[in-house]
Amino acid sequence: MMSKFMEWVDARFPATKMWEDHLSKYYAPKNFNFFYFFGSLALLVLVNQIVTGVWLTMSYTPSAEEAFASVEYIMRDVEYGWILRYLHATGASAFFIVVYLHMLRGLLYGSYQKPRELVWIFGMLIYLMLMAEAFMGYLLPWGQMSYWGAQVIISLFGAIPVIGADLTQWIRGDYLISGITLNRFFALHVVALPIVILGLVVLHILALHEVGSNNPDGVEIKKKKDANGIPLDGIPFHPYYTVKDIVGVVVFLFIFCFIVFFFPEMGGYFLEKPNFEEANALKTPAHIAPVWYFTPFYAILRAIPDKLMGVIAMGGAIAVLFVLPWLDRSPVKSMRYKGWLSKGWLLVFCVSFVILGVLGVLAPTPGRTLLAQICTALYFAYFILMPFYTRMEKTKPVPERVTG
Ligand code: HEM
Repeated sequence: MMSKFMEWVDARFPATKMWEDHLSKYYAPKNFNFFYFFGSLALLVLVNQIVTGVWLTMSYTPSAEEAFASVEYIMRDVEYGWILRYLHATGASAFFIVVYLHMLRGLLYGSYQKPRELVWIFGMLIYLMLMAEAFMGYLLPWGQMSYWGAQVIISLFGAIPVIGADLTQWIRGDYLISGITLNRFFALHVVALPIVILGLVVLHILALHEVGSNNPDGVEIKKKKDANGIPLDGIPFHPYYTVKDIVGVVVFLFIFCFIVFFFPEMGGYFLEKPNFEEANALKTPAHIAPVWYFTPFYAILRAIPDKLMGVIAMGGAIAVLFVLPWLDRSPVKSMRYKGWLSKGWLLVFCVSFVILGVLGVLAPTPGRTLLAQICTALYFAYFILMPFYTRMEKTKPVPERVTG
């Protein structure tokens, strides 16, 4: 019965072909480790955001007069509204934790290197869109931090010479952040950006499956195939990695649900305290800081005394990641076989990124600004010096086959 039905479908739509190409006959390296859980976890969080987001939209009112109260209504009166909101808000932070670890894996194993440059670039576009999505979503509860956070970020565009003032007004749709801004952010957050992100995720995975996955050894498994053309070090994604990924999903959901049920505000890091007060255009909060996942870039912005240069540095910090595949000149992909310079610089980069993240949350003092300046310099040095240290250093020989 079933096979007759599938025959009928396959004559009209490549269902079995897609299943085979992307799952049952997609041969992934057999040595995936911990870091390879985060792609499927990012997919899981994406689905969580879309499902909870759709249900939140059913009870949310996108107007300056009613938005704040409608969120309170969701929390208090809508059945299971509180859990929808906490799943969505915790999901936003979880998304960035997962994506940052997913990107770190790329840095560790050189997954951005030839032939996976487009996988990386689609990933970077997803990251950019994700930042826009999170930023716009944060305005929707119309709390004090929603309002003033958006005010700070939108005003940055004002630093651009000549067009700055007009540009900020065009983004806001008003002379100040108002219900009009809220309406357009709502439209972008709920409709436009999710479509773009979903499309990019499809392109990301198509590009990956075209060239095949990298692995912790950075060995191309397609170079060694058996008589049937199957990579010797490859195993079918389904059932091997679908089952393995379920283990990752279960562990992730334990941690995720623990936060949702016991620490949804995460001490003010996932849901900031001033956001429990309604937006007030006449009352600026004493200390404005973006949510934690933006703070490394915010610290770079504040580290530079000149506003325009700060904006350029902040943009540059993200833009430089796009050209990473062309900065790394190493003959090997994985950190396992790179030299001490690459290892040392990756460590310096990660430590600087975390320190910047912490500094971005705190109010600036002269000492902290100096530290932020040092970390900003190190952040950029990791990239700018990369073409040199990756070529200079002595690498270890890469094995012919993956090492288990
Ligand atoms: C919504 C966000 C994202 C989703 C759903 C997603 C999904 C995936 C999936 C399912 C894989 C294959 C499984 C794996 O290797 O873990 C993958 C691989 C990859 N992703 Fe992403 N990704 C996202 C964001 C990003 C970002 C922001 C980057 C980097 C800028 C990135 C870079 C990569 C790279 C380089 C690979 C290949 C890794 C390898 O083969 O070693 N991804 N992604």
